[in-house]
Amino acid sequence: MTTLGENQTAVRSFPMRRQCPFAPATEYAELREAGPLARVRLPNGQPAWVVTRYAEVQQVLASPHISTDITRPGFPELTSDPDAERYQLFEGEFFNMDSPEHDVYRRMLIPEFSFKRIKALRPGVQAMIDELLDAMLAIGPPADLAEAFALPVASLGICQLLGVPYDDHRFFQSRVRTRKIEASEDMLAPVAELRAYVDAAITRAEREPGDNLIGRLVVQRVATGEITHNAAVGMVLQLLIAAHETTSNMIMLGTLTLLRHPAQLAELRADPALWPNAVDELLRYHSVADGPTFGRIAVGDIAVGDQVIRAGDAVFALCASANHDERAFDRAGEFDIHRGSGNHLAFGYGVHQCIGQNLARAWLETAYETLFRRVSTLRLNAQVEDLSFKYDAAIFGLDEFPVTW
Ligand code: HEM
Repeated sequence: MTTLGENQTAVRSFPMRRQCPFAPATEYAELREAGPLARVRLPNGQPAWVVTRYAEVQQVLASPHISTDITRPGFPELTSDPDAERYQLFEGEFFNMDSPEHDVYRRMLIPEFSFKRIKALRPGVQAMIDELLDAMLAIGPPADLAEAFALPVASLGICQLLGVPYDDHRFFQSRVRTRKIEASEDMLAPVAELRAYVDAAITRAEREPGDNLIGRLVVQRVATGEITHNAAVGMVLQLLIAAHETTSNMIMLGTLTLLRHPAQLAELRADPALWPNAVDELLRYHSVADGPTFGRIAVGDIAVGDQVIRAGDAVFALCASANHDERAFDRAGEFDIHRGSGNHLAFGYGVHQCIGQNLARAWLETAYETLFRRVSTLRLNAQVEDLSFKYDAAIFGLDEFPVTW
């Protein structure tokens, strides 16, 4: 049995970039066929494992021996610059914590994403989406669907959820769009600005709490001494960052895919009950949160097939690859709204599985359904080959999305 560091000359570099906007990197399929686990080399030369098959991705992400704690020595870093300033971990940033500390913070937010709460948010989501389309239709074609619709749906949706003024949405929209696959210092300043923004919003709520996520967090957790002001800042900042890019890019990519599959789009228009399945299939098909999102370090040995991930090894559990694994999804490369893709891993798996997934589904469903109902002649105003896909971004997507109707 070999260890992670051996045979490094023969291994592939990671992260791997997509070559086609409608599929994960082609190397994933090659590695998946060779086995569930492969060795790769990171830009700084560090060896790491990638997990490529559906069952094993679930196994590794659910393992108690896997950690997201970036402060552990050996945690995989995606930078080729050895002097790059590391992202410093702040209080309350529960994504980078392990159980049981992680679970304490996560549990405080669970009620904010309950079925009941999402249902209560839906009318506001619909109104916000209608207003954005009113404005886009009033100006008339052509439009950049990124600026006119996809980005504001995500940023206004976050304003609604958190309870911060709508006017602020452009501020954080511009700050969350800079994250690249390879970590760089350019990303630190926008995050610092966002942190200052969230800090001010929480300070305001401490004086005058509203009936919203931030207000409840302040009243129920900060005022009671359960968590500090700074921990609340960290928690809210993580929500904001995790929600924005993922949602806005899914709106654009999903719209593009539906335009490319007019027969399935016609079915959805005729029977809106099909939308929930279609949304999950779009999430699976595009898997916008790809490789770099899933960096981990092993804190105990994990046997995968006939190999062992040893304590201290760096690992990437590739959910995009799992979502295109033929062992789990028949004709995985095809987009099919009838396949029943609810078991996809586009929201991750295990203790860190996306806390906002039901809200994301509500945003996406309302956005696609309303867009295709109200702009019935919507079409792409460019060739697919000329679109500006973000092959270097941490979350896959589009910079601009020219449409007309
Ligand atoms: C289409 C939209 C979205 C996608 C594809 C997505 C995807 C993901 C994925 C893959 C993870 C797990 C990452 C990992 O395990 O390494 C995750 C975690 C997370 N997501 Fe989402 N997400 C979306 C929307 C949202 C929204 C709307 C929110 C909140 C409003 C949100 C908040 C979070 C948080 C806080 C975590 C970390 C959870 C934890 O560590 O316990 N996400 N998301």
